[in-house]
Amino acid sequence: MKKYIALLSVSLIAIVALGFLATDINAKEEERKQINAGRPIAIEKPTFTSQWQRYFPRQFDGWKNTKKSADIVDMIDKYPALAIVWAGYPFSKDYNAPRGHYYSVQDNVNTLRVGAPSDKVDSPLPTACWTCKSPDVVRLMETKGDMEFYTGKWDKWGSEIVNPIGCYDCHYKGELKVKRSFLDKGLQEAKLPTFADSTHQTKRDLVCAQCHSEYYFRPIQNGETTAMVVTLPWKNGLGVEEQMSYYNDGKNFPNGKPFFDFENKISKAKIVKAQHPDYELHLTGIHGKNGVSCADCHMPYKQEGAIKYSDHRVQSPFETMDTSCMVCHRESENKLKAILKEKYDRKELLFGVTVNNLASAHLEAKQAWDSGASDAEMANALNLIREGQWRWDYAVASHGGFFHAPDETLFILAKANDYAQQARVALKEILGKHGAANYVVPDFSSKEKAQALAGWDMKKLVAEKQTFKDTLEQTWIKAAKENGVLDEALRDYKDDRASWFGSK
Ligand code: HEC
Ligand code: HEC
Ligand code: HEC
Ligand code: HEC
Repeated sequence: MKKYIALLSVSLIAIVALGFLATDINAKEEERKQINAGRPIAIEKPTFTSQWQRYFPRQFDGWKNTKKSADIVDMIDKYPALAIVWAGYPFSKDYNAPRGHYYSVQDNVNTLRVGAPSDKVDSPLPTACWTCKSPDVVRLMETKGDMEFYTGKWDKWGSEIVNPIGCYDCHYKGELKVKRSFLDKGLQEAKLPTFADSTHQTKRDLVCAQCHSEYYFRPIQNGETTAMVVTLPWKNGLGVEEQMSYYNDGKNFPNGKPFFDFENKISKAKIVKAQHPDYELHLTGIHGKNGVSCADCHMPYKQEGAIKYSDHRVQSPFETMDTSCMVCHRESENKLKAILKEKYDRKELLFGVTVNNLASAHLEAKQAWDSGASDAEMANALNLIREGQWRWDYAVASHGGFFHAPDETLFILAKANDYAQQARVALKEILGKHGAANYVVPDFSSKEKAQALAGWDMKKLVAEKQTFKDTLEQTWIKAAKENGVLDEALRDYKDDRASWFGSK
């Protein structure tokens, strides 16, 4: 009898276990179906990333882990010359290396660049500065229209744009989708297939390209006011030279003049600020040319039983080399890491040399003005600075460029440095003519010294920002909660950071 009971129990356990397995397989099958069919899933608020969790727990967990990339690298502290070359532009106040997608809204709110708005003072920057930070942007574009989204100052959307980059930025009803219309416009200008017409592999690049590309704010009249519309400068092609030829051609702009983002406050050079052309540089590298996509390295496949899924913790592939690189490479991880280190060091060296030459040129130009140089005398030197700085910025604003396209990055940096040197030679001559041949540029070797030369009162900026955080930001959070647009399950206000915290 005992024997039968034992047998029966074993069978029962086996049946129950099989039952569980079947449920598990069914669940996995269900998930796979949902993914592949891309059919509507019942998500009430797609901007609430927490609501996607119950359908796609694996992708959600990966996404959530972007929070682990939390360290702030203060780039102006690392390269004080940045404050000089960007003088007069908000980037000279505060600029950090990118970190996890989870922090996109927090970092946008905390940066000194967007200023310290209050009920009396507007942010100095336009609404467009939110464009690549949140799925709420997609929601606003859908409900209010592009032009309304792009009109006004940054603080206009403070209580509406509150959730960090999430599922709804890259997916719609479970499929890959881009709903920021400027990407398709840029692709069309470049005579490339739109997102919908692209191959699946290209879509795995383009979802990233909607944010990780060079852009500018194009002024477009909207009734009484001017909207600042995110626009990709791709009409002449996606390369560094083609983009600059676009910016240099006045015919492309409403005012008929070459484009510039700002006039450098020290030298008066009219500068185009390059911003993270990760996609464009990637296309020029060996991986891009071989059709390897952003997602292949930054979102490698993971296997869990029968389920294969994409690791949604977008991060440095150094952390996932076995799944990101070893699927194609046979070299050891250490060997690859050593190769990458060499590429990084070379870029860093040319980065430093070039930006110091550019900063010196800006300061020498100021001395030339102060010594009485004329507009006509300065025009060539200022243009050389403009050309050099565009290329330098393009090569380094893409933090992964040293790896994505090492040859191209070093080639662009070499050209940038050549322009900077030519500018300095031209300026030396002007300085000589005006009795200032012995001028020596002031010391800009620390963040404090460089920001003082750039004309910022940093103590004041920080104090105003702290007031903003204690007052208007709190009002925004409260309003967002009341209006039901804040995904409270996800926003963690305890973990608030900025490079300037504690610098009062
Ligand atoms: C909606 C805009 C947007 C999209 C789409 C987007 N990114 Fe980002 N990405 C950002 C922003 C903004 C940051 C910087 C966040 C910060 O520092 O707070 C960032 C940061 C990063 C980082 C740095 C992460 C770290 O841990 O240091 C990597 C790598 C990255 N993105 C890769 C990608 C890849 C690959 C894709 C496509 C699969 C992608 N991004 C799609 C906007 C976007
Ligand atoms: C930065 C862009 C981006 C974000 C944000 C993003 N995904 Fe994805 N997702 C991708 C890419 C790229 C793929 C690969 C698609 C392919 O090749 O079919 C993918 C694939 C998927 C798939 C198909 C199965 C798989 O894993 O390959 C699902 C399901 C999915 N994502 C769900 C989500 C959910 C849920 C979120 C939010 C928690 C999210 N995604 C956030 C870009 C993104
Ligand atoms: C989908 C396949 C694929 C993946 C994934 C991939 N590579 Fe490659 N890699 C290639 C191909 C193809 C080449 C070109 C080889 C050739 O032409 O001989 C290449 C070339 C290289 C080179 C030499 C070219 C150069 O730029 O100096 C390095 C280094 C390299 N890969 C590192 C990596 C690292 C690190 C990763 C992971 C982060 C990675 N690769 C992921 C396919 C891949
Ligand atoms: C062949 C693999 C590979 C491909 C393809 C690739 N990346 Fe990268 N990416 C890397 C590696 C390796 C790094 C360097 C990571 C580091 O320095 O920690 C990097 C760095 C970055 C960084 C800087 C991260 C930081 O915190 O400094 C961003 C942003 C980025 N990649 C975005 C992209 C985008 C967008 C694409 C597609 C247009 C792309 N990557 C394609 C491997 C790849």
